[in-house]
Amino acid sequence: MNSKGEIKKIGILTGGGDCPGLNAVIRAIVKTAIFQYGLEVVGFLDGYGGLIHNRTRMLESADASGILHRGGTILGTSNRDNPFRFPVMVRGKRAFRDISDQSIQNLKKNKVDILIVVGGDGSLTIGYQLYQKGVPLVGIPKTIDNDLWGTDVTFGFDTALQTAMEAIDKLQTTAESHHRVMVVEVMGRYAGWIALEAGLAGGGDVILIPEIPYGIEKVCEAVKKRHDLGKRSSIVVVAEGARPKRGEVVVQRWVEDSTDPVRLGGVGYKVGNEIEKRTGLETRVTILGHIQRGGSPSVFDRVLGTRFGTRAVALAMEKKFGRMVCLRGTKIRDLALEKVRGRQRRVPPNGEIVKTARSIGVSFGD
Ligand code: F6P
Repeated sequence: MNSKGEIKKIGILTGGGDCPGLNAVIRAIVKTAIFQYGLEVVGFLDGYGGLIHNRTRMLESADASGILHRGGTILGTSNRDNPFRFPVMVRGKRAFRDISDQSIQNLKKNKVDILIVVGGDGSLTIGYQLYQKGVPLVGIPKTIDNDLWGTDVTFGFDTALQTAMEAIDKLQTTAESHHRVMVVEVMGRYAGWIALEAGLAGGGDVILIPEIPYGIEKVCEAVKKRHDLGKRSSIVVVAEGARPKRGEVVVQRWVEDSTDPVRLGGVGYKVGNEIEKRTGLETRVTILGHIQRGGSPSVFDRVLGTRFGTRAVALAMEKKFGRMVCLRGTKIRDLALEKVRGRQRRVPPNGEIVKTARSIGVSFGD
């Protein structure tokens, strides 16, 4: 910002796990900034890594062409880099250092007046910390998990649902042919939105979500009952964060320098092995994994991403910093980042969608 407080240049970064719709957001920011406000736009590469190491690319209107339908992010991303927790070696031991001042200097070097951060809870929390240190910043919520507090929906979720539902459809046919139980594990971290909605859309018979701890005997009962009724197969949809009533989540790996080092995964095998052992029914397990993060964004995600991107630039021009755009019902709104950080939006266990699923006979294993 110059001495008159005029905004001339916007910086963008995409942080955390990628998701379909990020390019729609980048496109909307670039086009709105250039065409509506005559601004310059610079992208920081690979999330906060680009800010830390000053790796950038200028974004012209031509860079925003032909990217709307592409998954991923043209800027690259990372769910490890954090300017407040930068890994260094001290006397042969790994330690972490706050190098946020250097990152803020890089904003200045690039003459960036406002930074727009497109990210999940980790990236937006870092954004909030930068804002507290005086960086004029606006946030845009993204994640396939749909677990961000403060917005009804994040972009990326709808496309991930479509991918998961199509996979369940495909598993249905092979399950029927072989009279098998098919367990399909989906992503979502500590929220069961993907399992619940893709499970409902794909006709899952059992859906296990983190918000409703399961009893394996109840899961097996539901599967056995279907078999005894003469059903040819059963589909069990398991969220990666699902856990038994008296047990813990299954951790697949630790990513030390990540804002959230825990990577969940593998509960599908645990559930599948138990089903086969206890019911005697042949069971196969599919872990969908990162396929859920890929692909061309759905209509919904392209439109939501475009609305978020455009509104974020408008917010920046109104100098409403430290805020995040969000969807409330059908309207785009904004709220303080301070309210969002450290909170997760999880499935209400007695909410309408869970009740709907129960009404049509879905078991939650409880
Ligand atoms: O937050 C998105 C997400 O895809 C989660 O559903 C999943 O647990 C995690 O990211 C996987 O992260 P990574 O890409 O580091 O394996």
